[in-house]
Amino acid sequence: MARDREHALNTDAIQQEQPAGPATGWWTEAVIYQIYPRSFADSDGDGMGDLPGITARLGHLVELGIDAVWLSPFYPSPQADAGYDVADYRDVDPLFGKLSDADRLIGEAHGRGLRVIVDLVPNHTSCAHRWFTEALAAAPGSPERARYIFRDGLGPDGDQPPNDWQSVFGGPAWTRVTEPDGRPGQWYLHLFDTGQPDLNWDNPQVRAEFLDVLRFWLDRGVDGFRVDVAHGLIKQADLANWEEPQEILSGQEVAKPRPPMWDQDGVHEIYREWRRLLEKYPGERVLVAEAWVEPAERLARYVRPDEMHQAFNFEYLLAAWTAPAQYAVITRSLEATDAVGAPTTWVLSNHDVVRHASRLGLTADGGRHNGIGVGDPQPDAALGLRRARAASLLMLALPGCAYLYQGEELGLPEHTTLPDEARQDPTWQRSGHTQRGRDGCRVPIPWEADAPSYGFGPTDASWLPQPSSWAEYALDRQRGVPGSTYEMYRTALRLRREHGLGRGPLEWLSTGDQVLAFRNRGLIVMTNFGAAPVPAPDGEVLHSSAPLDGDGRIPTDVTVWLRP
Ligand code: NOJ
Ligand code: MG
Repeated sequence: MARDREHALNTDAIQQEQPAGPATGWWTEAVIYQIYPRSFADSDGDGMGDLPGITARLGHLVELGIDAVWLSPFYPSPQADAGYDVADYRDVDPLFGKLSDADRLIGEAHGRGLRVIVDLVPNHTSCAHRWFTEALAAAPGSPERARYIFRDGLGPDGDQPPNDWQSVFGGPAWTRVTEPDGRPGQWYLHLFDTGQPDLNWDNPQVRAEFLDVLRFWLDRGVDGFRVDVAHGLIKQADLANWEEPQEILSGQEVAKPRPPMWDQDGVHEIYREWRRLLEKYPGERVLVAEAWVEPAERLARYVRPDEMHQAFNFEYLLAAWTAPAQYAVITRSLEATDAVGAPTTWVLSNHDVVRHASRLGLTADGGRHNGIGVGDPQPDAALGLRRARAASLLMLALPGCAYLYQGEELGLPEHTTLPDEARQDPTWQRSGHTQRGRDGCRVPIPWEADAPSYGFGPTDASWLPQPSSWAEYALDRQRGVPGSTYEMYRTALRLRREHGLGRGPLEWLSTGDQVLAFRNRGLIVMTNFGAAPVPAPDGEVLHSSAPLDGDGRIPTDVTVWLRP
């Protein structure tokens, strides 16, 4: 292992000597829209969104003006973690359709000028994957078990887990199996749910299998992969104990020891191999890291010129809604990715966090908030939406690539009063009902105010109940309505494209405690975070997240785009 590590470090040194010219390509300035297939559109009325539903709604995405979609997993799965527990990487779950529906979706999206990114889940399989079934049927020490991380337990009876690691969803990260002879046996590692056994990435079979899975989808024409838990594939070889709780990024710049399960140097070699494979395909296919890694310089290592193309910028998502915090995270992100020649990505919402229209109405302090439910302090909906609109207009004016999460273009809030009995995220159970988890941001989205399930599907079935207050957010109540959140996004995406805002560069004009302002390609963008209105700079207002006041000043929590 010592030699392996040395090897990894040496390779790193060589890579860093490469000149980092700025990357070019569609993805450097794209707006990418995340589709959560369960909750986007249901074609058959079973209450579960599906691939034909998505295909039928592609017109909406073209009208909105995005460049690409990223689809969360639709592969066969017991759905222990909403499809992030994959039983077969080369097929479609009957819940969502057939493989031919995926082909049709990719083809029709391409026909409309949209690129398609699919989700790849390499850190773990489902416990229903053939490999795991084979591992359970085989003996300790067998090649079948060596595809996963099986260990004997501690204590005289082996009834203590091999180390003290906790699952991200709560509870221990190890589960004991029953051996084929019926006796209690070894333990397997699962950093997430028990239904998600971690793969052993030191095993060449695992590496070969995923290269093949990449080829399978590349051959079907996908434009890239969002790589789930990209920071987790390699574990520190000694599986050393880690007393700290499993926490997502702190968002604070504090030096902390690196946990033995995250961001190990060995992961980078895997992505270099994948990049080499992608380069063999025509067109510009991309790899996007989901890596909860800080600080920004550590994250930037995932997007060095011969690794992934992008990494989600979660420090940005978690940043407080204040001028100094936003200034700090934006500059830090740009510096870190500039240093390796990669574009920065920006993201405010996804299927794992409280939607920003609610998050920003709860507190301006930043952080993740693992769900909101009945009995919890409720966000201020109007304040949340006002800030969310300002935040989105600020984000869409930044150079780099922006990710949108389905429904944010409608100003959709979190479902913050979802009955606990309806919750399906394993977090709620595994945390002993202390963390409500992510269901509130996963509720099927509203299309038509007066239709059953708000037009999500042809019936009123919906796998998570929709709040009775969502008619006002439905697309048909916002389309063509000046000032609606939907029209605000549409205009922003059009202007962003016309002015090439994704290309930058950004030049700061004002970085005070109350106001941020910058120039990007001839436009001035200004956000007022302060309590009092501020005068707008001279120029023509092209766009704003809310009207200016009667004296032409920018009110609190408003972003404007001006042409000087
Ligand atoms: C990150 C995914 O976004 C999340 O939904 C999932 O639970 C974990 N990875 C585990 O796959
Ligand atoms: Mg359906």
